[in-house]
Amino acid sequence: MPFRPDLRERDATPEALWLRRRDFLKLGAAGAVGAMLPASARAGGPEGAALPVTRRVDMAGGEKQSPWDVVTGYNNFYELGTDKEDPRRNAGSLHPRPWTVRIEGEVKKPVTVDVDTLLSWFPLEERVYRMRCVEAWSIVVPWVGFPLAELVKRVQPTSRAKFVAFTTLLDPKQLPGERWPVLRWPYVEGLRIDEAVHPLTLMVAGVYGRVLPGQNGAPLRLVVPWKYGFKGAKSLVSIRFQEEQPATTWNLAAPTEYGFLANVNPAVDHPRWSQARERRLGDFFKRPTLPFNGYADQVASLYAGIDLRKNF
Ligand code: MTE
Repeated sequence: MPFRPDLRERDATPEALWLRRRDFLKLGAAGAVGAMLPASARAGGPEGAALPVTRRVDMAGGEKQSPWDVVTGYNNFYELGTDKEDPRRNAGSLHPRPWTVRIEGEVKKPVTVDVDTLLSWFPLEERVYRMRCVEAWSIVVPWVGFPLAELVKRVQPTSRAKFVAFTTLLDPKQLPGERWPVLRWPYVEGLRIDEAVHPLTLMVAGVYGRVLPGQNGAPLRLVVPWKYGFKGAKSLVSIRFQEEQPATTWNLAAPTEYGFLANVNPAVDHPRWSQARERRLGDFFKRPTLPFNGYADQVASLYAGIDLRKNF
């Protein structure tokens, strides 16, 4: 492997979950789905249907983009297996089309809509973002999507909408990892409404100009570049506006390790490892982690007056 994780799985995963992970290996061992993928799906350059991209913006300071094979072959998507290589191998069971997304809760115009119809409402742009995983590795990714703020404008939240909850598909046939109680399913993430409408917050439907592969969260996922990667819930079926802070999956699994805000913060260590540095996948040397993953000038003001040690 040309890249190296900083931590073994057992370091990065709450121990109770790590122990259960052994059950999971049976899933990967079956391998039936992986065997059906064309060989080209396992290595090489971008593939899949091209998306109409209207604008390209580099928001990673000109840094080299991580290779396609890394972005689509080294993933966290526990519903498709807990090893980094599992999601690509198992993604064939996920059928991202046709797909329906519910925009619901405290909005004046709730809508249940086919994902391609939803995508047709907004111009798609490419945004190159630095992404920082809580496990202290990072990548640079050319996502394709649209600002969540555009969707929020369209559905018109009521004054009671203080938070947004993002929910992944619950279907053990398509996401066989949901047969094991590794996490509480379905996977749920959440943002405050002001974070949701921040111009950096993206609804993502593609990568490298192509339709998003299953392992990256097809057909629609969240990307919030100043937060740890686990906030980016994949394969969404519901975006719900609500008054209460949503109970989120990793926070429920290990509240002392994974907070609700989950802002990238080199000054606040994870209880079991430092967050001060990170390894860009493919690099040999680690580099310092930047506050808010390098997006502080754009987002720090959202947290003025908040103690980010307590609210990690
Ligand atoms: N979404 C779901 N539904 N299930 C998951 O296990 N993992 C999260 C996040 N979204 C996860 C998820 C974590 S920990 C990370 S780091 C990112 O997805 C990884 O996204 P990527 O594989 O596209 O890099």
